[in-house]
Amino acid sequence: MNLFNVYSKYEVTPVKGKGSYVYDKNNTQYLDFYGGHAVISIGHSHPHFIDKISDQLHQLAFYSNAVPNDLQEELAHKLGEGSGLQDYQLFLCNSGAEANENALKIASFQTQKSKIIAFKNAFHGRTSAVVNATDNPKIKAPINKTYEVEFHDWNQLATVEQSLQKEDVCAVIVEGIQGIGGVHLADVDFLEGLETLCKQHGAMLILDEIQSGYGRSGHFFAFQKANIQPHLITMAKGMGNGFPIGGVLIHPSIKAWPGMLGSTFGGSHLACAAGIAVLDILKEEGLLQNAKAMHQLLIKDLAALEGVKEVRAEGLMIGLEMEYPSAALRKHLLYQKQVFTGSSSCPNTLRLLPPLSITEKEVSIFLEKIHSSIPQTQYA
Ligand SMILES: Cc1ncc(COP(=O)(O)O)c(C=O)c1O
Repeated sequence: MNLFNVYSKYEVTPVKGKGSYVYDKNNTQYLDFYGGHAVISIGHSHPHFIDKISDQLHQLAFYSNAVPNDLQEELAHKLGEGSGLQDYQLFLCNSGAEANENALKIASFQTQKSKIIAFKNAFHGRTSAVVNATDNPKIKAPINKTYEVEFHDWNQLATVEQSLQKEDVCAVIVEGIQGIGGVHLADVDFLEGLETLCKQHGAMLILDEIQSGYGRSGHFFAFQKANIQPHLITMAKGMGNGFPIGGVLIHPSIKAWPGMLGSTFGGSHLACAAGIAVLDILKEEGLLQNAKAMHQLLIKDLAALEGVKEVRAEGLMIGLEMEYPSAALRKHLLYQKQVFTGSSSCPNTLRLLPPLSITEKEVSIFLEKIHSSIPQTQYA
């Protein structure tokens, strides 16, 4: 049987990971400044992560949401503590797209409306409703276009306000930091303005923290640099460090009713064990602080590199915009220097998303490797 061929792939096959490195079958070591699409938060194969999942596997891997699950309670408690959002309620699912599907559904239940405001270059997932709020016509099938969606300019409030004044908008969905779009930071005024406008006009504010959350920005959620309380916050990626888990944080003012949402696999025992291990390590190893410290080490040197137009970054979510297309640099880093980095929908921008546990030594190795790659890839 052939695989359904939808992915363009790097020509490296990792078979093992440890900390900030992955290894192919010849034991060649690759420095991971991409974390497999921003997923690796606590580093590869962390011993506590392995122990928690292995212990749970020996106890009970799965039972459905038809029974109480103490691990979900523990996860919710630790997530409340870690994020400071103890008042919110947690719904568990399996991926980022599924988290956003559920957030849109809750918003539509609450408002009884369906029009969505999103932003240019947004990426919110590839499934049913949510792909319609993703700014990429190529990946939308006719069946996805079931509700009206408007794409507004990033960091601009005026047109959003005009649209919300019609009082027909269900929700505004916004990434804490735009990721795939090329790492675009949200201004504090923009986030606070969106909250005010949503409240004034009866729309829900959904913060998509699937890529920018779980400590990546140096805050637990990237939006927390602003003084806002979104109605809904979605997360996945770093939450399970590679184990499939996602979630929606739901404002206390929104009441659940039986059957409102559901998932067979969401919040399984094994997924919760992985999620708890991640939260333990973020706290015990001070990884949010480390993300801020490593950011400082990286940013100054990256900005000084030849050919760099702009560095857009918060914590360890870094967009390096070159003066020319960055594909040759990304390939050189991978195949000549053994460093994984990521692309974005902005051809000149590399995305750097190392584990939050990256060390000072690994940062200097990376800086040396990128520094020596640039002269050979410029205008290639
Ligand atoms: C901001 C954002 N939202 C949603 C998603 C979709 O997540 P998933 O691929 O887990 O469905 C992604 C994935 O890259 C993302 O970056």
